Amino acid sequence: MKILYVTSEAVPFCKTGGLADVAGSLPPALAEQGAEVAVILPLYARVRDRFGDQLKFERYDYVDLAWRHSYCGLFSLEKDGVTWYFLDNEQYFNRGTLYGQADDGERFAFFSRAVVRMLDHLKFWPDVINCNDWQSALVPIYLKDDGVREERFRSIKTVLTIHNIEYQGRYNPYVLGELFGLDAGWVKDGTMLMDGDVNLLKGAVLCSDAVNTVSPTYANELKMPYFAHRMESIMRQCSNKLSGVLNGIDMKLYDPRTDERILKNFSIEDMAGKDECKTELQRMVGLREEPHTPIVAMVSRLVSHKGLDLICEVLHDMMELPMQLVVLGTGDQRYEEFFHWAAQQYPGRMAVRMDYNEDLSMAIYAGADLFLMPSKSEPCGLSQMIAMRYGTLPIVRETGGLKDTVQPHDDYNGVGNGFSFTNYSSGDMLHVIREAVYLYKDYPDLFSNLRQRAMSCDFSWARSAREYLRIYATITGQPWPIPLETTRAADAPAPAEEATPVEEAAPAAEAVPAEEPAPVAEVAPAEEPAPAAEAVPAEEPAPVAEVAPAEEPAPAAEATTAEEPAPAAEAAPAEEPAPAEETVPAEEKKPAKKTQKAAAKTEEKAEKAEKKTAKKAVKATTAKTTIAKKGTAGKKKSAE
Ligand code: GLC
Repeated sequence: MKILYVTSEAVPFCKTGGLADVAGSLPPALAEQGAEVAVILPLYARVRDRFGDQLKFERYDYVDLAWRHSYCGLFSLEKDGVTWYFLDNEQYFNRGTLYGQADDGERFAFFSRAVVRMLDHLKFWPDVINCNDWQSALVPIYLKDDGVREERFRSIKTVLTIHNIEYQGRYNPYVLGELFGLDAGWVKDGTMLMDGDVNLLKGAVLCSDAVNTVSPTYANELKMPYFAHRMESIMRQCSNKLSGVLNGIDMKLYDPRTDERILKNFSIEDMAGKDECKTELQRMVGLREEPHTPIVAMVSRLVSHKGLDLICEVLHDMMELPMQLVVLGTGDQRYEEFFHWAAQQYPGRMAVRMDYNEDLSMAIYAGADLFLMPSKSEPCGLSQMIAMRYGTLPIVRETGGLKDTVQPHDDYNGVGNGFSFTNYSSGDMLHVIREAVYLYKDYPDLFSNLRQRAMSCDFSWARSAREYLRIYATITGQPWPIPLETTRAADAPAPAEEATPVEEAAPAAEAVPAEEPAPVAEVAPAEEPAPAAEAVPAEEPAPVAEVAPAEEPAPAAEATTAEEPAPAAEAAPAEEPAPAEETVPAEEKKPAKKTQKAAAKTEEKAEKAEKKTAKKAVKATTAKTTIAKKGTAGKKKSAE
């Protein structure tokens, strides 16, 4: 399978956020599973500066967009089994920052159009193009646009990955032709129109063959107004092609046994090094050197959706507890000022660094005891996984990827890997922090068991990569896994026996260390049976038939009933007995009593959770709408 991954940032080349981490790790993990993978991104000034001497010039061409006819250079670099392509145009990308420029719309329209233009010059013709967020959202749109489309583009299937639905790429409709080179029909039929704006993300959601986001719970949340930033009805309409795949982390990079960025290495078997890291952290940030006082840490952008209001509300109550607090991050001025002021009230017990500092963040992951993430929403979140890897137990609000990665401790049954609370309430957060602090102080054995469980969680990318491959297989109709030799050989389809997607059959629940498989089931990409036309040969993995919108953007009225759980896509081909714990979606397979019970429980839970969330959403909506409106206005301003 040949996959082209389109992204506006990727580690180690350029990074502003979590997308870069994903784009840096997922493609190599896909390659490791036997796929042919190329990544394509803009050649920013910082990439040229740091990697220029390693780049190979491939060729150049011209990209036509509206009346513009612009140069585009193609550079490449081989790394980790992946070809990394860089698109060069100095006018657009030779700048100091990645985003936040007045002409971002034009820059990323050029990028997306150039991706389509340069397909001819890449090392392969892709089976799948996986785009990410609004910056590459025009790719699936261009592939369907009459002005661009050629017959051969029909063979390419598209996936859109949403890392954060807040950023949608909204523009005044009058720029549609001028900026994006698109016909007014795209707005007239509603495909790219939302709230009076041209909305690139909406267009891509409707035009892509599959849409996924970065955790199963977030995929479900995206159907609710509280989380979806006005996109909930579109997400519901497309729920049959929507799924959630949990991000991973680089388990080698973040390994306390070998990490050279931390003072002393340690492991589950020998935690002595962690004590030294703690003392070192206390020294570094000016906390009292008290080995038996738990350190609660935050490494975060200081912005509202990270749940900082909860901390502002109860900071003094928190500091009544026998704990220390360290905060690292930059962001909104009001939070920076608050934390700065608060730290002065608690010298030796609270430390704040307004900075982004990799060394200090590693010292915190390694040296702290508890890691606080009370986010209002969190598509996936990587920090909680990194913290767990270093034995720093997360305290999270149950939302998005936080819910999917952190399972609250249950000492009686000896399960769980952290602490969590459900409602966005400072009282609930305080209660859980208190519980965690006293577990540390009064029950060190239980705390250390919990720590061990957190440290042994598997957050590797291999698992997520298999989930992505399952999506690709589903929309292309190609079997998976394909043995390496077959992948490399022409386009011949793999023989049927090899198509048995043994690994893939494991539902995504497997990917969620938490016990509750519910969220995964809820977002199974196949709530509806495949339309016959899309039918793929029986032996192949569950067809994401859902992919239907293929040719035409689905008209808005078609709204599907998002709710009905008919998780057909999870249906493993009959031969494979899916392991019992992973069988949420296994109604078809005569589930054992236990599984049935579990499924019923899960459903009940999910229902309750949904009711709860709906209630909360209602409460929050009024306030939220105002905030959302303000936010959008601001964003539009900066985007245009
Ligand atoms: C965005 C999300 C974050 C996620 C990251 C990578 O930054 O806000 O939750 O982990 O993308 O997908």
